[in-house]
Amino acid sequence: MPKLLFLFLFFLLFLLRPHHVSAHFIRQPSRPLVFTPHNRPDSHPQQVHVSLVGNNYMKVSWVTRGSGVSSTVEYGKTPGKYESTATGEHTSYYYFLYTSGKIHHVTIGPLDPATVYYYRCGGAGPEFNFRTPPATFPIEFAVAGDLGQTEWTSSTLEHINASDYDILLLPGDLSYADTQQPLWDSFGRLVEPYASRRPWMVTQGNHEQETFPIIYPKGFKAYNSRWPMPYKESASDSNLYYSFDAIGTHIIMLASYADFHVHSNQFNWLAKDLAKIDRSRTPWVVVLLHAPWYNSNLAHQGEGESMRVAMEEMLYNSRVDVVFVGHVHAYERFTRVYNNKANPCGPIHVTIGDGGNREGLAMLYKDPTPSISLYREASFGHGRLRILNDTHAHWSWNRNDDSVSVVADEIWFKSLSSSSSCFPKVQPTIEPTSEKDEL
Ligand SMILES: *[C@@H]1O[C@H](CO)[C@@H](O)[C@H](O)[C@H]1NC(C)=O
Ligand SMILES: *[C@@H]1O[C@H](CO)[C@@H](O)[C@H](O)[C@H]1NC(C)=O
Ligand SMILES: [Fe+2]
Repeated sequence: MPKLLFLFLFFLLFLLRPHHVSAHFIRQPSRPLVFTPHNRPDSHPQQVHVSLVGNNYMKVSWVTRGSGVSSTVEYGKTPGKYESTATGEHTSYYYFLYTSGKIHHVTIGPLDPATVYYYRCGGAGPEFNFRTPPATFPIEFAVAGDLGQTEWTSSTLEHINASDYDILLLPGDLSYADTQQPLWDSFGRLVEPYASRRPWMVTQGNHEQETFPIIYPKGFKAYNSRWPMPYKESASDSNLYYSFDAIGTHIIMLASYADFHVHSNQFNWLAKDLAKIDRSRTPWVVVLLHAPWYNSNLAHQGEGESMRVAMEEMLYNSRVDVVFVGHVHAYERFTRVYNNKANPCGPIHVTIGDGGNREGLAMLYKDPTPSISLYREASFGHGRLRILNDTHAHWSWNRNDDSVSVVADEIWFKSLSSSSSCFPKVQPTIEPTSEKDEL
């Protein structure tokens, strides 16, 4: 009985709490899980998705249930006419009583930029097509985190698809399978219409871990088998952190759930990766990771703090332009910031963990709003980063206003590499970063 009372009071508090919403917007309630069934023959491809792997190459990934299917992709620039063929590899994994299908990964290329390729997987089933990223500006990234597979996820994905983009960036928490492996398959089928058309570049969140004491201590079995990213190509030793280039932009995917402490493998790899950036080739540097370093939502407070303490100085010294994070199921945009203070040479931090997962929104915020937080709102949605040229970019956050997508927050900003006061960089004085200031 006291438990019920407590729940009721909590719910009341939840409803009464004031939060930032525009006058005309009425927040929609959470929506149910979408299970996407398998409706093709076993030997036909399902869960098709593509990702960038090195310059001018694409990795095609899919799953089959039949045993005899080869890991072969036929592709070409005309529908139904496949001038090229490539063969790759396949894997599978166990998780307690679950055995995955045959998971195929085939790298194809070299491919021309900004070109539509038609392709078929394993010599059977439907034809798919994708478009390669452009070789000149502008380039547009869709950004969505904490996707899950609810009706909200479906509407976010429709909104992302409704206007054109080149590459999707996902700062962690994909399927919310949470050890229920068939939900990884369902997620793969849900995203296939989108992830087979544009490269999806992802990093991991806590929902990808799926560790189990003694049996699966390292975790990430499903994630690493199904979503291999180009870590070898970026000299990383782990699929959990890597980097890649897309016209004029160097993108670094960090791991909130691998060791990030000073002189860990990830830390050393990041230092080397940052040192290799050539700003005349990639004037923009974007970082993605899962657990926010800056966050004025009451959810997940402090969870990214030890990673911030370990790595923020490196990112700052390298003049990273933007950091996208997830984990908190809401949207928040900070000013340029370093060491908990506004800093014109620090990155803009954006929380975009509002893709639509089953856990719902994180509604409660610190009061008053910290001065470094410029916009915050607990609604589902997705982001768009459109890089126009070496110096100018446009960011927008698109709220799922029921079934339509509405631009709720947008800014123009300039690259730090074009700022004479930040770049070429003056060696900053080293400040201690261990004290956790209140945001
Ligand atoms: C995504 O957009 C393309 C281009 O407008 C369209 O042809 C396709 O049907 C869309 N996909 C889905 C699943 O809505
Ligand atoms: C870059 O794009 C912005 C926005 O469209 C424009 O104002 C600016 O002149 C462009 N700069 C160059 C060098 O083309
Ligand atoms: Fe998360």
